[in-house]
Amino acid sequence: MCGIVAYIGPREAYPIILKGLKRLEYRGYDSSGVALLNHTGLNVYKKKGKVAELEESLVGKNLHANAGIGHTRWATHGEPSDRNAHPHQSANGKLAMIHNGIIENYAQLKTELQKKGYVFKSDTDTEVLLNFIEDIQKNNHCGLEEAVRIALKRVVGAYVIVLLDQDNPDTLIAARKGSPLVIGVGKGEHFLASDASPIIEYTKEVVYVNDYELAILKPDELILKNLGNEKITPFIQKLDLELAAIEKGGYDHFMLKEIFEQPDTIFDCLRGRLDINNASITMAGVQNNIEQMMHAKRIIMVACGTSWHAGLIAEYVFEELCRIPVEVEYASEFRYRNPVIHQGDVIIAISQSGETADTMVAIERAKEQGAFIFGVVNVVGSSIARISNAGAYTHAGPEIGVASTKAFTAQLAVLTMIALKIAKEKKTISEERYVHLLNELNNIPEKVREVLLLNEQIKKLAIKYKDSKDALYLGRGYNFPVALEGALKLKEISYIHAEGYPAAEMKHGPIALVDDQLPVVFVATKDSYHEKIISNIQEIKARKGKVIAVISQGDDAIPKMADDSMAVPEADELVAPLLSVIPLQLLAYHIGVAKGCDVDKPRNLAKSVTVE
Ligand code: AGP
Ligand code: GLU
Repeated sequence: MCGIVAYIGPREAYPIILKGLKRLEYRGYDSSGVALLNHTGLNVYKKKGKVAELEESLVGKNLHANAGIGHTRWATHGEPSDRNAHPHQSANGKLAMIHNGIIENYAQLKTELQKKGYVFKSDTDTEVLLNFIEDIQKNNHCGLEEAVRIALKRVVGAYVIVLLDQDNPDTLIAARKGSPLVIGVGKGEHFLASDASPIIEYTKEVVYVNDYELAILKPDELILKNLGNEKITPFIQKLDLELAAIEKGGYDHFMLKEIFEQPDTIFDCLRGRLDINNASITMAGVQNNIEQMMHAKRIIMVACGTSWHAGLIAEYVFEELCRIPVEVEYASEFRYRNPVIHQGDVIIAISQSGETADTMVAIERAKEQGAFIFGVVNVVGSSIARISNAGAYTHAGPEIGVASTKAFTAQLAVLTMIALKIAKEKKTISEERYVHLLNELNNIPEKVREVLLLNEQIKKLAIKYKDSKDALYLGRGYNFPVALEGALKLKEISYIHAEGYPAAEMKHGPIALVDDQLPVVFVATKDSYHEKIISNIQEIKARKGKVIAVISQGDDAIPKMADDSMAVPEADELVAPLLSVIPLQLLAYHIGVAKGCDVDKPRNLAKSVTVE
């Protein structure tokens, strides 16, 4: 994700772009930049850090221009830095471009261009696409619009791109596939942005650009075309959303928006890695270290909070598939415990922010003792990503809500792919089971979309249980860590005390808590523990506990016992947590809202715990 803003018309472009980027910073904040086209030519200013830092650095500069593009970055290729910031400039200096998305075949294109003598100033996939466009323009002796069209037919991946051309100062060219792009239609002026928030104060007339469409914008002309160079009639709509709502994509809170983003973020996580047709998983970080990882005597998962829950699920997955002993450690305990670390131990550090102090110090200590650190991180170029020997980004995009949701499911998807890749190399699973699990994982984004249809039902459930004082969350096997995660979500969003437990542990004490006021949430999707968990539910019902169950569609046994149930699509137990957690995220969210809690910024919490 990133924020894109562009303007062409009679006004000064820079103030419009700057204010628009600030409104889009929730989409990414690694670095930002602007390119302004005026009589002196193309002026590009860009800087690591927030938009305010860019603004400060530009005081006193000649910022006059009536055409400009601006970008606030969420890095995917190339760590956050001045040189990797957008806009990028083409080799001949005549083109400037901003990009939102991932060019999956950028490496191949880069090699081809390097063979032609192109030298790259950044590590980004964006600069590769830009020079690819320049190269086409040069070799085909064609205009920029045609070069963009030809280039995009070769590109694999997702993009919104906007270009400025020094030789055509009255024109902006934009194209879209897979990332969002809105055109604001003004009087004698046009705006472009990732969403309508930078546009709405200037015009309420917008055109939403569709995939495979190209927009050619002049101050008083808007042309839409497809990649086949056929004109498309722009469909102009009237905006009826308010600014605040737009930034949240029309959702009431970032947390709900991020819960609903999960079909796309899990897809983005799998994209370019999981290849169903060739039954393969491409993960350079794993491939380049496969000997070290497949021959590890043990794997230690180190994390905090929700990321620690992802590590617990990964323990079951790795042991089942790779037959490598796994330990899961709270980073805050691990770092002080003087743990026994052997040379060759593999540590998988899991962190959304990549800045959690406990996790950071824990892996620094382990690295000093010879451990190999593999980072599973969401924020590109973050501290944990940089200190790790290798890693895999989760590509979930910025997670603004303090309660982690989409980052958690992205972590599970990455960890499952890592385990499958190692198991395949070790031949600890059959080719048939490997292909089966690849398909199971590949089907998750659409199954998550189906789970989200439970939202209204769960909202009603939340009203029923919002005044509870306590809650228990129970699960077995792969769903036990999901129970822990569900309990954490409820605690941190609604401030209701909740505990997660292995369901079979209840008889060793906690069942004493059960009475007719206590809601007990069972994560009970169809798996190898199903009969056992039904017995556990009966134990609770025998003591008049209220049972809320997450079940698999088609399960007709548990709904007869439970007070309430939420059915998710069936899936192999190894990937089922990616589905069974979603109702628990929604339940916590709706209870928090029903209780009037600040669900995006819960009391006492911070998004990234960079203190000990
Ligand atoms: C999860 O909802 C919490 N916000 C918190 O437990 C979080 O998972 C934990 O602080 C770890 O953060 P990290 O993934 O950024 O390292
Ligand atoms: N892939 C591009 C980069 O890493 C764009 C990322 C974004 O969408 O911000 O610079």
